[in-house]
Amino acid sequence: AATTVYEAEHATRSQGVVESNHDGYTGTGFVNYDNVIGSAVEFTTYTSHARQHDLVFRYANGTTTDRPMEITVDGTPTTVSFGSTGAWTTWATKTLTVQLSQGTHTIRATATTAGGGPNLDSLTI
Ligand code: GCU
Ligand code: CA
Repeated sequence: AATTVYEAEHATRSQGVVESNHDGYTGTGFVNYDNVIGSAVEFTTYTSHARQHDLVFRYANGTTTDRPMEITVDGTPTTVSFGSTGAWTTWATKTLTVQLSQGTHTIRATATTAGGGPNLDSLTI
């Protein structure tokens, strides 16, 4: 099925900045989460068909420490780990599969530890 790429640099940020100092991102940059609990990026997404969808988060974590985030889909939370990718220029994907109805959905990725989130490039659905 067709997918849509939602770039993090175009999403709504809370305690994070758009940067482009680590190569390999798509679009024009990525979001560098503030290294605090609660820093967040929120995407407004549109789904044309009700079914199971893969939420594919593209990220980099240049530390050796997990940067887990709470992913909420219309407020319903799931905690997802975003482990080390080895370098800030090495990007990987993490997938969460959820049932989505047809229509608009709010997907928010919130840091749950004092390290903040990973650097977030995009969400593809
Ligand atoms: C470094 C890196 C940032 C990253 C930060 C972090 O400063 O350059 O892109 O966000 O580490 O640890 O979160
Ligand atoms: Ca950061």
